[in-house]
Parts: sequence; C-alpha cells; structure tokens
Amino acid sequence: MSEIAPTSPLRLDPERALSGLDWERVFGSPGPVEVEIGIGKGRFLLAVAAARPGVRLLGVEWANEYLRIAEARAERRGLENVRFVRADARELVARGIPDASVDAYYVFYPDPWPKKRHHKRRFFQRPTVDHLARTMRPGACLHVATDHEEYWDQIEPLLDRHPDFGRLPEFGGESFPMPADAPLTNFEAKYEVQGRNRHRGSWRRRDAAAPSRG
Ligand SMILES: C[S@@+](CC[C@H](N)C(=O)[O-])C[C@H]1O[C@@H](n2cnc3c(N)ncnc32)[C@H](O)[C@@H]1O
Repeated sequence: MSEIAPTSPLRLDPERALSGLDWERVFGSPGPVEVEIGIGKGRFLLAVAAARPGVRLLGVEWANEYLRIAEARAERRGLENVRFVRADARELVARGIPDASVDAYYVFYPDPWPKKRHHKRRFFQRPTVDHLARTMRPGACLHVATDHEEYWDQIEPLLDRHPDFGRLPEFGGESFPMPADAPLTNFEAKYEVQGRNRHRGSWRRRDAAAPSRG
C-alpha cells in the first residue's frame, strides 16, 4: 500500500504516518532526513529542499490551508525530496518518527499559546523534547526560534538542562543549510519588519556513549 494520500502526491497519509514512518518507503531513496515542525507556507522547507537535493525533508503542519500552499509550491518547483503531513506535531514526534533516524529538526516560531491555561498545548514540553532526543541521530541538531519572551524562557532551560542535548555556541552552526542571518521563514520576515525581538538557538544531540559536558 502507498504511504501517500490523494490530496497531493507529496502528502502522507496521517494515520499511516502516526503508526510509524519508514523513511525508505516515504521517499523511495536513501539520504539524511530533516524535519520541520509547523512549516506555515513552507518558505524555509522549500528553500532547503531546493538547495540540498540529497536531503530528504518532511514538513509537518496542522493548518490545511498553509499545507496546500506549500505543497502546490513544491509541486510547481518540481521538488522530489520533500513530503508533507497534516498532523499534530507532538503526536507525530511521539508516535510516528523512528528512533535515531532524524538528522535535523527545525522549529521556527511555534505557536506560543500565551494564556496560562493553554500552555499545555505548547510544542516544547519535556515529554516532546524527550521524543525529539529519542528520534535524533547522535550529532543531529535541533534549531529553534521564537519572538515570544515568556515561551523562550521555558524553551531555553528545557533544552539547556536536558541530558541528551548540548548547546551550540551560536544559532545554526556549520551544518545549517541557509545563511542564518537572513530571515528564514515568513513569520521571521514579518517580525523583522515589525522590529520584534528574535530568540534563536541550536542544540546538538549528544552521543549516548559520550560523557555529557556542560
Ligand atoms: C506562528 S506559525 C509559524 C510558521 C513558520 N514556522 C514561520 O516561521 O513562518 C506556527 C505554525 O505552526 C503550526 N502549528 C501549530 N501547532 C502545531 C502542531 N501541534 N502541529 C503541527 N503544526 C502546528 C501552525 O498551524 C502554524 O502554521
């Protein structure tokens, strides 16, 4: 049976994805796997897919209208190394993504859910961060950005203190696929014009066998 649902040839069936992704079947080709959470209209994901044809990219997005725009753009550009799934990213990371199989995660401007009673809806919470660590290969990077001060004050210590992650000295690092200074996503471009604060950080998945440092 195909992994792909009929909406777009690039769209994965969510139920099949949540029951466990097989990257070879999803992409039909070998290579590193990178996942972007909450892609919006896909500006970053599509730019990376075009720049790195040997990398396999999965975009996760809940909003169907955004997903359709991103898919249409990917199809028009003839990108063969990108797939999309409509899912709650927390569920997908917890249930769908195999152990030690992801080479990079990108989470840019995740919804901050500012009201306290909604904080439980945030992407960055300890159980999800544990699943990010479980699904990353040793040496893989998690790149994060937000404009939201209070959410950043939750995210930064959660990742800095997690035993499986070590922070890179600066956002991006050597393996980052784009010039890190330029606006990376639609929201980042919008926030730059508005002059909002930008918080960004990158963390590397430690090798389980290596002693943790700092
Ligand atoms: C503030 S927007 C940022 C979009 C894009 N990353 C950018 O920087 O332009 C957050 C995006 O995450 C999506 N999103 C929020 N919660 C999600 C979840 N649990 N699973 C998947 N996508 C989610 C929203 O639909 C929205 O497109």
